[in-house]
Amino acid sequence: MKKMVCAAALATCGAAMAITDAEIEKLIGEMTLEEKVGQLVQLGSAGKEGGPLSQDATGVALPADVAEMVRKGEVGSLIGACGVTNFNAFQRIAMNEARVKIPLMVGHDMIHGVMTQAPIPLALACAWDEKTWQDCGRLIAVESPAKGCNWTFTPMVDMCRDPRWGRIAEGPGQDPYLGGKMGAAMVKGIQSKAGALPVAACIKHFAAYGGAEAGRDYNTVEMSESTFRNVYLPPFKAGVEAGALTVMPAFNTLNGVPCSVNKWLLTDILRDHLAFKGFTISDWCGVSECELDHHGMAETHAGLVELAMDAGMDQDMMAGLYRKELVQLVKDGKVPMAQVDRSVRNILQVKNALGLWENPYIDEAKLKAQIDLAAHARQARAIAAKCCVLLKNEKDALPLKPGVKVALVGPGAEDCVSISGTWSAYIENKFEMTLPEGLRGAGVTFTYTPGYDWQKGRADAKALKAAAKEADVVVALFGQKGTDSGEGWSVLDITLPKVQLEALNVLKRTKKPLVAVLINGRPLAIPELAEKADAILEAWCPGTSGGGAIADVLTGKVNPEGRLTTEFPVSVGQLPLYYNRLRTGRPSDVSAPYCSCYRDGPHQALYPFGYGLGYATFAYANELVKVEGEGNQRKVVLSCDVTNTGKVAGVETVQAYTRQMVGVESRPIRELRGWQKVALAPGETKCVTIEVPVAQLGYWLKDRFVPAAGPMRAWITRDSVSGKTLEFRL
Ligand code: NOJ
Repeated sequence: MKKMVCAAALATCGAAMAITDAEIEKLIGEMTLEEKVGQLVQLGSAGKEGGPLSQDATGVALPADVAEMVRKGEVGSLIGACGVTNFNAFQRIAMNEARVKIPLMVGHDMIHGVMTQAPIPLALACAWDEKTWQDCGRLIAVESPAKGCNWTFTPMVDMCRDPRWGRIAEGPGQDPYLGGKMGAAMVKGIQSKAGALPVAACIKHFAAYGGAEAGRDYNTVEMSESTFRNVYLPPFKAGVEAGALTVMPAFNTLNGVPCSVNKWLLTDILRDHLAFKGFTISDWCGVSECELDHHGMAETHAGLVELAMDAGMDQDMMAGLYRKELVQLVKDGKVPMAQVDRSVRNILQVKNALGLWENPYIDEAKLKAQIDLAAHARQARAIAAKCCVLLKNEKDALPLKPGVKVALVGPGAEDCVSISGTWSAYIENKFEMTLPEGLRGAGVTFTYTPGYDWQKGRADAKALKAAAKEADVVVALFGQKGTDSGEGWSVLDITLPKVQLEALNVLKRTKKPLVAVLINGRPLAIPELAEKADAILEAWCPGTSGGGAIADVLTGKVNPEGRLTTEFPVSVGQLPLYYNRLRTGRPSDVSAPYCSCYRDGPHQALYPFGYGLGYATFAYANELVKVEGEGNQRKVVLSCDVTNTGKVAGVETVQAYTRQMVGVESRPIRELRGWQKVALAPGETKCVTIEVPVAQLGYWLKDRFVPAAGPMRAWITRDSVSGKTLEFRL
């Protein structure tokens, strides 16, 4: 029999095949229609709120309705971390009491850690480091089983160009190449089988969810097919190629058709073009959101199920529509049995790839040995420090000099959870570290005066002035608390709230050196802070050890090396704002009337893509580009000499960009093609070489791939706006 299981996925999972493909087919043949439909259903692990409990054979009290559905084979997976005991109890029912023995998957959103939280994905992206992303995936893999989950709805690889969209926090930012590398590394980490039960990754939200008009969550997405294929699709391709076992279609419409019932997207693109072999799981009630009063894709629920099944939606999260309608639709001949079998097969193959028939249970002894929260906290701290981006550093404000007295002010400093970031529901690491604890640990003399809230009320000018008076330097927290970004957290205004600006002005008037630490899940428009603070450290929502990480960077124990992966606008009016935009016939870099700019303010980003400082400085020289090799081995080789011109050792992120000068469609101003991080001692020079396969430089034009040709420009440099322009030809 032909091997149908995704070879790449199995390789990634390293799964010993517990059952064969032939056995899967046999199982499908033996299943009743009801049991097949059961596999396509995902419902909540907690069951009906306040519903009765029933004891399983070993005396574990489970939600009675869920236990019964599992027993009858009416669910293929559950959503919501149910804990180790319940997970194993549900699984025992599935494996011992159900008529057909099919293991369960239990999923939830463990997106930047579980008990321990690393920084939010947008921050993780700023590390520009595949190992960091993979490590974060492994952390998720190890901690998810502790909460009774063997599936995480991670990574989100949605590109986003508009930080009004709160879910920008959950993704890698605005570059498809970097986003794909990050997504793939996280998939590998999550599916590394590092934990007490293998965990499946889920790349989401398929597709273009981050392109929501005006940054309003769940909103319409309209874009050309070439933008879709060149910008929004590549990270999914990378995730599929890394072996992601599941994909979650998005809530939004894409050019008029909701992704949940979009056959072009779920079949032509996902299965045929990307060769995805795992299964699709709808987003929460994604199928029912296509009903009359919502997207309006069919008059009845039955009609929606027909559409969703035909499109290629394998499992229905929480809507209950497959459960309600599908059996009858098959009996009426409206949905072919072959479609049901196809989806069941996809699901069973993923369960098999996870090794679930062989090892269905969470190994509690292994789990206990693996959940080393102190070690996880140390790891999260190191990761968080790597994600910090130094946006400004004047008058030698940072690092803090040994022995200085610090006035720490601002909200959120004493509470790790409130700054940890979206999806922080499962935090349970007693080794978490606040900023005061971090400073104390580093031996810094400081006082802490909150002085103002994130949003509400007025700044306590008296307390702030008094605190500053006693100190040599003020370290002030600004931004948004961790829960103010994420799903459903689109906002109109991304400037600092009035109360924070008031505090900023009070602090500025004290004339003490002012170091701003930004906590936020999205880029903010902060021109006032950029002007008035002496230093700005972007710490994002740094996770549970964030306080320690921020202290490490402030004190210079860690030299910041993060680089932005989204632009910081000067004003909300610039949005959407992205570095890899197309050119215009009236280039905005020409300062003349009737060019593509604004009359009342700049069009450039305040802080561009790729930007970030450190405590060392670097000089670039001898930038070169050449084309080498033949045929499909042809590559563009960019090189330069980078010298650490500073006084301390540091890491520079050397970035390679290209621009195709002439295309069938206009091509972007710059596109990131690769990067290399290079560690340099003071005075040291290294030659950095970045090789880019010529095949990587082509682009999609609808469904045709056009190889790069003709005159090209390239830059090997420190960010998306600087560097010597190099010319070459393909
Ligand atoms: C809705 C979100 O859009 C999705 O990202 C998440 O995975 C599901 N809810 C499940 O929590």
